[in-house]
Amino acid sequence: MKKNQVHLGVNIDHIATLRQVRGGTTDYPSLLEHAQAALKAGASQITIHLREDRRHIQLKDLIDLSKKKIPLNLEMALTKEMEVLALKYKPAWICVVPEKRQELTTEGGLDIVKMSRRLQPMIQRIKKKKIKVSLFIDPSLKQVNKSHDMGAHAVEFHTGKWVRSRGAEKAREWQNLYEAAVLAHELGLRVHAGHGLDFNTAKEICHLPHLQEVNIGHSIVCYALEQGLFSAVQKMKRQLI
Ligand code: PXP
Repeated sequence: MKKNQVHLGVNIDHIATLRQVRGGTTDYPSLLEHAQAALKAGASQITIHLREDRRHIQLKDLIDLSKKKIPLNLEMALTKEMEVLALKYKPAWICVVPEKRQELTTEGGLDIVKMSRRLQPMIQRIKKKKIKVSLFIDPSLKQVNKSHDMGAHAVEFHTGKWVRSRGAEKAREWQNLYEAAVLAHELGLRVHAGHGLDFNTAKEICHLPHLQEVNIGHSIVCYALEQGLFSAVQKMKRQLI
């Protein structure tokens, strides 16, 4: 039997990171152009994380991408500010993620059990606007069950620990992912995955049962640099005569 292709969401946060290291004073790199290029290349959606500290994606990016009808998966913390923005700009999906100011990147999954009192009504309000809801969790049966109780459409499993671990620990992490994916599917949740995936681990994660979508950013943006630097230097050389 032919396996279905896993959908790819391309996370463009780090394209914004490059722009923001100059304080957003340059009009390059253009997030819109890169989003359009990713979609043209076969991405199913564009993923952005509008962080509270605005370290990469800015509110204006959300507005511009929404205006151009880019299919968006908006990663967001469980805050009133983000809920208001989601209800206003109506991305196709939101993915609720934990957020800490000091972290370099999203370090772990949500504790749905702890946040359920605030999460459930928020999910209901978001779903009323026909926005789909995914919850970014560690691959744990408890978190999957609770995500289902909350009324989410999907769970996105944090793959970072599996990617980084080795040997017996990696096998254990895979088992956690496997069991969590099977349970999520049984409960009618879509199975998504992401974080730290590179070209090798992306291929491996496709063995996860019921996987429908991955969201990948850092490795794709790094590869784009590798592939593009040669022609960028050639272009600059042509200016220097
Ligand atoms: N999925 C979620 C929920 C994330 O928070 C991130 C990082 O922003 C990603 C996927 C993409 O991770 P990476 O940039 O390591 O591919």
